[in-house]
Amino acid sequence: MGLGECLIGVEEKELALAVLDRRQPFRYYGVGGGAAPGMAATLEREFARAVGTRFALGVTSGTAALEVALGALGIGPGDEVIVPVWSWISCFTAVVRLGARPVLAEIDETLGLDPREIARLTTSRTRAMMVVHYQGVASDLDAIMAAAKAAGIRVIEDCAESAGATYRGRPVGSIGDIAIFSFQARKIITAGEGGIVATNDARLYERAVRMSDLGQYRAFHEQLQPAAGEAFAGGNFRMSELTAAVALAQFRRLPSIVAHLRSLRARLLEKIGALEDMAWRRIPHPEGDLGFETYLYLPDAARLAAFRTALAAAGVNATQHTGTYCHYARAYCRNGRAHSPAASPFAEFPEWPAPGYREEDFPRTRALIERMIAIPLGVLYGNDDVDYVGDAIVRAWSACREHASQRAVAMAAR
Ligand SMILES: Cc1ncc(COP(=O)(O)O)c(C=O)c1O
Repeated sequence: MGLGECLIGVEEKELALAVLDRRQPFRYYGVGGGAAPGMAATLEREFARAVGTRFALGVTSGTAALEVALGALGIGPGDEVIVPVWSWISCFTAVVRLGARPVLAEIDETLGLDPREIARLTTSRTRAMMVVHYQGVASDLDAIMAAAKAAGIRVIEDCAESAGATYRGRPVGSIGDIAIFSFQARKIITAGEGGIVATNDARLYERAVRMSDLGQYRAFHEQLQPAAGEAFAGGNFRMSELTAAVALAQFRRLPSIVAHLRSLRARLLEKIGALEDMAWRRIPHPEGDLGFETYLYLPDAARLAAFRTALAAAGVNATQHTGTYCHYARAYCRNGRAHSPAASPFAEFPEWPAPGYREEDFPRTRALIERMIAIPLGVLYGNDDVDYVGDAIVRAWSACREHASQRAVAMAAR
């Protein structure tokens, strides 16, 4: 079960029932539709204040938020967007849906985009890059922002997995040009589905609203920021009041969720201590980490398999992928298709998969993910659970090492 999902309770029910009691499930329609203070408007106001952006906009999902953010930036056919090769499906598919080409970048030991990739991959077509704050940890933002600035490209912060995380004291989502969040199942807070687009840029805000609401810019938004741009053909990604009600109740829980996770994580690290031959995920700014997933790199894939088996035998939940895979391994990348052949941004490559979209093009990413393991912490965990997990990790690792050294002795004796 997801983090926020475990906590759905009285507050979520109260706000959702308030929407139903008012018979006002639409943000803009129905009796009194659009009248302040609606749930979506309240969520946006509170979210923007907490994230530290001038604007926040509720939409139907994190994927919709990515498409809205790309559209707000004016990304379209002929453009390229740099995306970490190891990231969620929609980081790639949202770019394709807009008719632009995702260009895949290696990740580094932070499990976020390697900042050195930005200069290497930027071409005259590159308009933007996506920085994905993977599972509660802000990417290396100083280096990434500096490289993006030098390359002259815009930065989309994908904070779907990291609401509440900070980087050098600044909330993620407030540092790039535009940011997205998600309320999907495996996120810190949830609302069934739903997402947020956040930005400080008034022009991007207006375009994001138009992109999410059929090109329109209604009075509510006009009051916040007078329109300066033109209508264009947008989609309908408007957040419903019911979604907003649940998201708002969950969002108000975020500070306590983050505090609890951070205290569990500190306890786990203390319990485990240093593990010989094992490396930790590099966290650029440890104080800002949410701590709900602890990543370890083992020396090689064989010891990773043995360690996982030992943890599973002790009943400890330890996964390798947490739903993320390299894009080159996914069907939509392997075939390079869009919804229609002419819409594929890969059509001009003479062969497919072209260089840059094949497994062998990402040796550094592969070397990391083949040796990595994730130890999740639940929001309902207490200190005893963490102590159990910590002890199991230490025991499992020492058993693996002992086993490996016995095998080495046996091999040498042959
Ligand atoms: C990094 C990342 N970006 C985008 C999304 C898309 O969000 P959603 O599932 O709400 O469409 C997700 C989650 O699924 C995600 O993990």
